[in-house]
Amino acid sequence: MESKQPPTRILYVDDDEDDHIIFQRVLHQIPNSYCHLYFKTTHDDAIKWIGQNSCDMLFVDFYLGDKTGLELIKKIREMALTMPVIVLTGQSSPDIDAQSLYGGADDYLEKAHLTPVLLDRTMRYALERRRHLSLLTDRQSQLERLGKKLLAIQEKERKRLARELHDGIGSTLTAVKYALEENLYYQTNGDAHERPTLESILSWVRQAITETRAICSQLRPQALDDLGVKLAVESLCKKTGQVSESLEIACRLELKEENFSEDVKIAVYRIVQEALNNVTKHSEATKVEVSLIETKDELMLSVHDNGIGFEVPITSTEKSGSGFGLDSMKERVELLSGHFELQSELQRGTSIKCRWPKS
Ligand SMILES: Nc1ncnc2c1ncn2[C@@H]1O[C@H](COP(=O)(O)OP(=O)(O)OP(=O)(O)O)[C@@H](O)[C@H]1O
Ligand SMILES: [Mg+2]
Repeated sequence: MESKQPPTRILYVDDDEDDHIIFQRVLHQIPNSYCHLYFKTTHDDAIKWIGQNSCDMLFVDFYLGDKTGLELIKKIREMALTMPVIVLTGQSSPDIDAQSLYGGADDYLEKAHLTPVLLDRTMRYALERRRHLSLLTDRQSQLERLGKKLLAIQEKERKRLARELHDGIGSTLTAVKYALEENLYYQTNGDAHERPTLESILSWVRQAITETRAICSQLRPQALDDLGVKLAVESLCKKTGQVSESLEIACRLELKEENFSEDVKIAVYRIVQEALNNVTKHSEATKVEVSLIETKDELMLSVHDNGIGFEVPITSTEKSGSGFGLDSMKERVELLSGHFELQSELQRGTSIKCRWPKS
């Protein structure tokens, strides 16, 4: 029966041609196996072949003429190739077993005890282990990228906060301090009309309170606590509509608040906030649709505008130099095990779609 899967491409490296024939026979006795077997007798021929061909798995004899299978493994790992490698030996030896594993082999088999069942199991396990390993490596590099990005965002946020505190509350409090000092000075040194009035000092204090509130509401959306996510998003839409009068905003919100965690609600709020900021700053859109809908299995958020769109960068390097908003949306979604999608087409608009599974 013909398999739909592509064949597993196996390279067998052994200086003994008889062993090759035996291996081929055992391999063909595995039920439903679909493999292409290639054979090389020396270390150098194997390296040359691997350099020019793709290969899913390698079987290598421990002793290869004047070289060893371990040297071959070292070489292919230096070539950054990650296919599973299984070492074969003529006789059992714990020393060869240990050397093979430490040398980068995935497994070790004795030729004398090779059976179809053992070979089949060894191949399946080795392929599966490598598949998991490559998933883990991908995930790890994704996490490293995410970590670096988060640090950069945190640093940017700290700078922004320092600026707000310095230029806003800091300078208002400085003005209050001078006014109070003057007030005290004139209290003891005569001319009472020269001194700043308590009303003017009070108005600065009020201003400092307003500025503190503004900073706090940016750090933690107060609207979420006061109104819940539906009304908070609706209020964001309304505010955006008031700022950009030519923009028509449609808002569809269908969810039960209690079905979602606080973290997801904060992510929803921040993503809508940044998406609407982007719409006003960049899109030149006349319409934007915000929808937040709960289905049987997930929560779906989408923000779609009919603006000028942009070319979505394929890699983060292509994007270097531009802002943080879109990256931060993606990170927020993925940190909560969600899925983020950005689509944009020139002159046709931009869509942001986020999905979070229900817990
Ligand atoms: N809705 C949109 N319509 C058109 N262009 C957009 C839209 N959203 C984003 N862009 C484009 O993508 C770029 C990156 O957006 P992003 O939100 O990451 O950064 P930013 O808005 O430039 O800066 P920041 O969000 O850090 O203040 C924008 O500079 C803009 O060119
Ligand atoms: Mg932005």
